[in-house]
Amino acid sequence: MTGELSPIDKAKFVAAKRAADYVEDGMRVGLGTGSTAAWLVRCLGEQVRDDGLRIKGVPTSTRTADLAREVGIDVISLDEAKWLDLTIDGADEFDGDLNLIKGGGGALLQEKIVATASDQMIVIADIGKEVEHLGAFPLPIEVIPFGWQTTQALVEETLISMDVLGRQSSLRMNGDRPFVTDEGNHILDLHVQRIGNPRQLALVLNQMPGVVENGLFIDICDAVVIGYGDGRVEVRDINEGTVVQDRLDFVETDNLFSDLAD
Ligand code: A5P
Repeated sequence: MTGELSPIDKAKFVAAKRAADYVEDGMRVGLGTGSTAAWLVRCLGEQVRDDGLRIKGVPTSTRTADLAREVGIDVISLDEAKWLDLTIDGADEFDGDLNLIKGGGGALLQEKIVATASDQMIVIADIGKEVEHLGAFPLPIEVIPFGWQTTQALVEETLISMDVLGRQSSLRMNGDRPFVTDEGNHILDLHVQRIGNPRQLALVLNQMPGVVENGLFIDICDAVVIGYGDGRVEVRDINEGTVVQDRLDFVETDNLFSDLAD
């Protein structure tokens, strides 16, 4: 397959391809979930196969684990790895401080555990994910199934006193059934529209019984690799305070671009 990628897929691909440069031989790498992270897993699989790259991958979902094994990455559990050199993952939104909303793919709990257990977290995203204020993308929270409607009511009531513009929420569905995460929980998507104080909201949500984790990633991401549909990439490193621009020439080879999962 050639010439079939949409600009947004090209943007996701070049971001992933550029971020794969951060992965070094011998590293233990957290592998994110979602369509952008799937490109990364494919790129790393290609390096394992063609260049003899030796890494241990810790996936953040069963989907990613399946893809990683399929492309030849040595998959281990987080407990086997204990600590990771690097995690690379997508995001639904990122702001100027590199705070994130994640969980659009329903894997926020494992994603946050894995990213937090890493020396470094790099986000890969197309430019459309950049926002001035987080919150236009519905904020996912993972809740336990027991009493989820009571938890939902409590969350909505609590949002009244938070610096947000909306407080509606919806149970994420998978067809006509509630979506079930890899940990057997449900997801509530909070339609808050704009989050004035992400740090405060993240802390308050996690104090509520029934809430397992929220999709706000505060002070976790170290750098973002932003992809554009024309092949440009920009790397913003929040710790170094650097912005580096680059361009990737790529050839849509059969191996990498066919049959992409997710
Ligand atoms: C998965 O739960 C999410 O956190 C994803 O990383 C996020 O939704 C980005 O996904 P895409 O790369 O598919 O946009």
